[in-house]
Amino acid sequence: MRRFIMLFVFLFMVVFSYAANQVDSKVAGKCMTCHKEKSPGIYKQWFGSAHAEHDVTCINCHAANKGDKDAFMHEGALIATMVTPKDCGSCHEKEAKEVQSSYHATAGKILDSKDAYLAHVAGGEPVAIAGCEQCHGGVVKIDPKSPNKLSKKSWPNSGVGRINVDGSLGNCNVCHTRHAFSKAQARQPEACSKCHLGPDHPQKEIFAESKHGNAYYTHKDDMNLDADRWIVGQDYFEAPTCATCHMSANLEAPVTHDVGQRISWTLRPPVSKHKGDWQKKRKNMQQVCVNCHSQTFVDGHYYQFDALVGLYNDKFAKPATNIIKLIKKKKLLENPAAFANEIEWTYWELWHHEGRRARHGAAMMGPDYTWWHGIYDVAQHFYFKFIPEARELNDPDVNAMIDKLLKDDPMHQWLSMDTKNLKQKIRSGEMQKIYQKLFQQK
Ligand code: HEC
Ligand code: HEC
Ligand code: HEC
Ligand code: HEC
Ligand code: HEC
Ligand code: HEC
Ligand code: HEC
Ligand code: HEC
Repeated sequence: MRRFIMLFVFLFMVVFSYAANQVDSKVAGKCMTCHKEKSPGIYKQWFGSAHAEHDVTCINCHAANKGDKDAFMHEGALIATMVTPKDCGSCHEKEAKEVQSSYHATAGKILDSKDAYLAHVAGGEPVAIAGCEQCHGGVVKIDPKSPNKLSKKSWPNSGVGRINVDGSLGNCNVCHTRHAFSKAQARQPEACSKCHLGPDHPQKEIFAESKHGNAYYTHKDDMNLDADRWIVGQDYFEAPTCATCHMSANLEAPVTHDVGQRISWTLRPPVSKHKGDWQKKRKNMQQVCVNCHSQTFVDGHYYQFDALVGLYNDKFAKPATNIIKLIKKKKLLENPAAFANEIEWTYWELWHHEGRRARHGAAMMGPDYTWWHGIYDVAQHFYFKFIPEARELNDPDVNAMIDKLLKDDPMHQWLSMDTKNLKQKIRSGEMQKIYQKLFQQK
């Protein structure tokens, strides 16, 4: 009797699951048949992907649950246009978790930043949407009247820290373009280049001009980019890409989707600071380098990089910040709104554009950015724009602060000396001694 029941249960399960599959695969199959006609581009991108190869179809990603705010009925199925990290995470848990805890996931929360203020007052809402939010992401807004429930104000958008309606953060197709979702693509610097470029964070340009970029672009075809496993030093060795240094596997560490794991400084703020747990993060990065360089060579790079960050911080960033703080504290500016006075723009570009370029150039071996687009601009604008604009305010305290800086700080004393004397000091090494302390940072 018991046997009989077991057999019955078994038969029931077989029939039932077969029926369920019938329904599913019928709907699922229709997605492809129709879209092959209606949107052949999407179909073909998908058809050539690892997903198609493993039977992951349209409905596996686009299916929605009842109650999802962005769900709508479409050809007999409840679907959503957005496919968030949470959706991908049902099959790729590790990647989804790491993306959520990465700095990328926070990029949509910029509304309170100075940059956002500037975009909204000096620009206006359209530029915040078509500019900032296309890189950073913003809050995804629902419009019940829209056929796909998504408001035109936030769709299309594929910012790296998009704040999705299901509470998840970010967007996987920033690096894995849909509908190919390829890892080979994400290993190439172009995958990062929509965002990491331009006057305030020219990582793409710096990489291209560096020896690493030179080696990459001249050896790209030998880089095994399509390989399943991609361990530096094992599966490829000609050059590192952005992914190699910041994400991909090496002999000591697996792939990480948390791009902050190998970074010791933050080079973004007016004055650079070490990140929490920075020694460990620096070690993580150096584990990548030592596949192609000796540890001594790598230590030399960090010694030079740290000193450059120190130079920028101590010679320009800290004094400029102290001066602007005093100006604000004493309410010396003509117009009350932030950024309604020229000197505020000058200070802003000093750290946000020029100072970042110098720091990024030194971090990633792009000497043209370190000097010509970097410290050269910082110095010129510090001495011949920022300081004159501060002096124009005619305030005794501000003037005294500037006078003291230029008189007492040996790094600035050159301004009141004569060329012959200075050249002599450079030749004798006396000038270089002034900067020696910058090389002693830990
Ligand atoms: C009979 C044809 C047909 C079938 C079957 C079909 N679609 Fe579509 N689908 C379309 C057309 C046409 C559009 C474009 C509508 C437009 O341009 O506004 C569309 C739009 C979409 C969109 C984008 C909606 C938006 O405007 O943001 C998604 C996502 C989508 N389909 C997924 C699917 C999935 C998943 C399935 C299977 C459950 C499916 N489709 C089945 C024809 C079809
Ligand atoms: C691996 C998951 C995945 C699969 C499989 C998949 N999609 Fe998508 N699809 C996405 C993602 C991600 C987006 C972008 C949504 C976002 O930004 O959240 C998207 C967007 C879309 C859009 C709207 C974007 C546009 O450019 O108009 C359509 C239409 C669409 N998919 C149709 C399809 C169809 C048809 C199939 C099957 C042939 C399919 N998708 C298979 C993940 C997937
Ligand atoms: C239903 C399960 C499922 C979902 C949902 C899914 N994937 Fe996949 N994905 C797979 C499978 C299976 C493979 C192939 C085996 C592998 O590489 O792990 C794969 C492979 C990949 C790869 C490697 C492709 C390559 O070049 O080898 C990437 C990248 C990827 N998926 C990203 C995504 C993203 C992004 C999403 C969401 C938009 C997503 N997947 C949603 C199952 C899924
Ligand atoms: C081209 C893409 C792009 C655009 C457009 C863009 N950003 Fe960014 N933004 C980035 C990247 C990339 C970084 C990180 C740079 C780095 O780490 O060096 C960043 C950094 C920032 C930071 C610093 C975050 C921190 O933790 O220090 C803020 C704030 C910011 N952006 C706000 C904005 C605002 C507001 C706008 C529009 C006025 C904007 N961004 C426009 C790509 C962009
Ligand atoms: C900042 C860029 C970036 C983002 C964002 C990103 N990925 Fe990736 N992903 C990569 C890179 C680079 C690789 C290749 C690493 C390697 O093998 O060298 C990769 C590899 C993968 C793989 C293949 C893993 C393997 O071991 O074969 C999967 C699956 C994947 N990503 C899924 C996702 C999912 C899911 C998301 C969103 C939650 C996501 N990725 C977001 C850059 C990104
Ligand atoms: C769609 C835009 C976008 C793309 C594509 C993108 N990033 Fe970013 N990235 C950002 C923004 C914005 C930030 C700053 C985050 C913030 O302000 O919260 C950032 C920050 C970073 C940081 C700093 C992390 C930290 O903890 O300080 C690293 C490293 C980074 N990205 C590497 C990469 C790499 C490598 C790729 C390509 C594989 C990539 N990113 C692709 C927008 C992007
Ligand atoms: C040879 C390895 C290497 C390559 C290749 C590389 N980076 Fe970096 N990157 C670094 C190092 C080293 C730092 C500084 C780390 C530290 O602070 O300790 C850095 C810092 C960064 C930062 C943090 C900047 C900040 O403001 O705090 C971002 C963002 C970044 N890289 C993005 C990229 C992108 C995008 C690419 C490709 C276009 C790239 N990197 C290529 C090694 C590399
Ligand atoms: C996949 C191999 C590879 C990795 C990984 C790698 N490099 Fe390199 N690196 C090279 C090659 C090749 C050159 C060019 C050597 C030459 O000039 O002949 C180079 C050159 C350099 C240079 C000299 C730049 C110049 O202009 O002369 C520095 C500094 C450097 N790398 C630092 C690093 C650091 C730091 C890391 C880790 C964050 C790193 N590299 C990771 C391959 C690599």
